[in-house]
Amino acid sequence: MSFEKEFVWGAATSSYQIEGAPFEDGKGASIWDVYSHLPGKVFEGHHGDVACDHYHRFHEDVLLMARLGIKAYRFSISWPRVMPMGTGNVNQKGLDFYSRLVDDLLAHGITPYATLYHWDQPYELYKRGGWLNPDSPKWFADYAAEVARALGDRVKHFITFNEPQVFIGLAFVEGVHAPGLRLPVNETLTMAHHVMLAHGMASMELRSLIPDVKIGYAPTSNVPVPVTRKTEDVEAARKAYFTMPENGDWSWNVSWWSDPVMLGQYPDDGLRILEKNLPQIGQEDMKIIHQKPDFYGQNIYRGIPVKADGHGWKEVLHKPGSPKTAINWHVDFDCLYWGVKFLYERYGTPVMITENGMSSHDWPSLDGAVHDPARIDYLHRHLLGLRKASEEGASVAGYFQWSLMDNFEWARGYNDRFGLIYVDYETQERIPKDSFEWYRNTILCNGENL
Ligand code: NOJ
Repeated sequence: MSFEKEFVWGAATSSYQIEGAPFEDGKGASIWDVYSHLPGKVFEGHHGDVACDHYHRFHEDVLLMARLGIKAYRFSISWPRVMPMGTGNVNQKGLDFYSRLVDDLLAHGITPYATLYHWDQPYELYKRGGWLNPDSPKWFADYAAEVARALGDRVKHFITFNEPQVFIGLAFVEGVHAPGLRLPVNETLTMAHHVMLAHGMASMELRSLIPDVKIGYAPTSNVPVPVTRKTEDVEAARKAYFTMPENGDWSWNVSWWSDPVMLGQYPDDGLRILEKNLPQIGQEDMKIIHQKPDFYGQNIYRGIPVKADGHGWKEVLHKPGSPKTAINWHVDFDCLYWGVKFLYERYGTPVMITENGMSSHDWPSLDGAVHDPARIDYLHRHLLGLRKASEEGASVAGYFQWSLMDNFEWARGYNDRFGLIYVDYETQERIPKDSFEWYRNTILCNGENL
């Protein structure tokens, strides 16, 4: 069997990671514009001031996408490019940039998937308390409405949030992403609550302004992969995916971030374990948050081997010498298979892999080409898992490879190359890698070559 006929083959990027032009045409600062220039925050002082210069080269990039044959392109909109202060005045030139990009995509038969928030919060809003401010859901909904009014005649697919686990968890629990603070648990849980309210309020705006809109959400987490297919190991992995750890380590918990949005309630175990630090949950809040997405997006890169341990589970160490990517992440080829299966079982909504891919140490060889056989193997095996999940009954709507091109990998700067297209940051030359050709062929035959 192959992928459904309408399967969405795509590739993804995000604004801060590729655009550059941080203050051009009236753009305001984002928290990443500020953070990346603070000493010691990003590897060797790298920043996104130029990145892939996509703001100026988007047409060249769209031509490459057309050559790649992707059916859909997932990009993000920079909130401070559209609203420099985060609220109030709209920067028409900023909106025009996305409008031109969208027109170009559509002219090449590529469906735009716009993410509204991929971590570059307007710095001005951060100064007003950011996600801690009770007005923050409304700020976000107003911004979503502006985008909908400007692009909604052509953009029908929106993703509200990318990886809230990271922009709240890594940023405010672990303090290693912008703005790099470590806040008390009750405050981070309040932020998470506001983010979910923002998802709900923005979804309502999008739905009222664009009647045929399709909305997604793109959280993430490593997937517990059972070490055998025995029922008890599979059950253990499922539990590990959705259970709140007793130590209250909540920020990567799938159910905390997804149950409210998908099912309209916080998970009971989380409510019990986090009881002393819960945010104020208004009477109508859960109804607002439960603006159920049309597709359930999930970014999946990694698995954690898990086995049954009594009624619970136990993480198992990866075997010595087992595969790792350049970013030092273990590779578990079955993570898409199990992740999609578990998520579809729990939420019953078509799953879209909104990101998957690998970092490798790529460079142009003597022959001028960029050979990346490991990435081809990684994508091939993950896609096999995705197809198997679909054959076994999970509804799988699409797959966005991360990333269309090499880009700025947050606190790791330009260390990691995740792209199908190699970017020379000195000259801005783009070189499609071998995996580009491989993915092109895969798309052409709807995965029949796998
Ligand atoms: C998830 C994030 O959404 C993206 O911004 C990042 O570059 C990739 N994963 C790789 O770490």
